[in-house]
Amino acid sequence: MKNILVIGANSAIAKATARHYAEQKDSLYLLARDPEQLAVQKDDLMVRGATSVECAAFDATDFTSHGPLIAQALETLGHFDIVLIAHGSLPDQALCESDFNVALEAFNVNALSVISLLNYVIKPMQTRRDGCIAVVTSVAGDRGRQSNFIYGAAKAMVSTYLQGLRGRLFPDNVAVVDIKPGFVDTPMTAHLPKGALWAQPEQIAQRIVKGVEKRSSTVYAPGFWRLIMFVVCSVPEVIFKRLKL
Ligand SMILES: NC(=O)c1ccc[n+]([C@@H]2O[C@H](COP(=O)([O-])OP(=O)(O)OC[C@H]3O[C@@H](n4cnc5c(N)ncnc54)[C@H](OP(=O)(O)O)[C@@H]3O)[C@@H](O)[C@H]2O)c1
Repeated sequence: MKNILVIGANSAIAKATARHYAEQKDSLYLLARDPEQLAVQKDDLMVRGATSVECAAFDATDFTSHGPLIAQALETLGHFDIVLIAHGSLPDQALCESDFNVALEAFNVNALSVISLLNYVIKPMQTRRDGCIAVVTSVAGDRGRQSNFIYGAAKAMVSTYLQGLRGRLFPDNVAVVDIKPGFVDTPMTAHLPKGALWAQPEQIAQRIVKGVEKRSSTVYAPGFWRLIMFVVCSVPEVIFKRLKL
């Protein structure tokens, strides 16, 4: 039985992942914005077999709350075997360009809150010399595209941070897994037209569970995105800057 902290637990991807851990009879602590949705999820996870599920309300941009919230989760669970961070927002790129406050909010939600939360998570895992941190970033962080480079830059910030953190925590036997989904059919992308490359949250959840189990460094989800992003990153800048992507 594992003790798992899920941050951004109401996200479709986090919910699908938590269901896997409940079926493995793990204990979960959920942090998310909407307490009513959390209560529904708690009941669902208990029915699916979780040993215990506790929840607390959390707003990613309330940085001063992060320390006390993580401390409370740690006290309840005893230790963290797995910490999954999944909250995020997809900002309007044009608005970000015209109003810096919108861009700042996007960086706060998608990047700085993650770094703040990890500051509190790292110490107890280092001390225990075990565990796995998994963070949902995005393929959007692999290369800046003109249609969403604020979101992409925020995700890239986290991916670069995770690369360094992985090395820092390697001697302490704490794994750091960067989960990079492609297009996923969730509330965040409800307004976008869907196509052949789109995946369901359950497919991403399976990749997360497997990646954490194998203590992988970077997990593309679905796996074919590794090849797509290899090709995208190989396009010379002189051509890439002309592409309306
Ligand atoms: N969907 C995709 O195509 C895609 C692709 C690549 C990466 N991702 C990443 O996957 C992760 C999960 O997203 P999803 O696709 O599962 O979408 P989702 O279901 O819309 O989940 C996003 C979650 O983030 C939460 N959130 C947003 N701002 C927050 C804040 N200030 N404080 C606390 N929670 C906040 C939302 O809370 P509420 O429920 O309260 O609104 C929501 O539960 C995100 O990091 C996203 O960037 C998604």
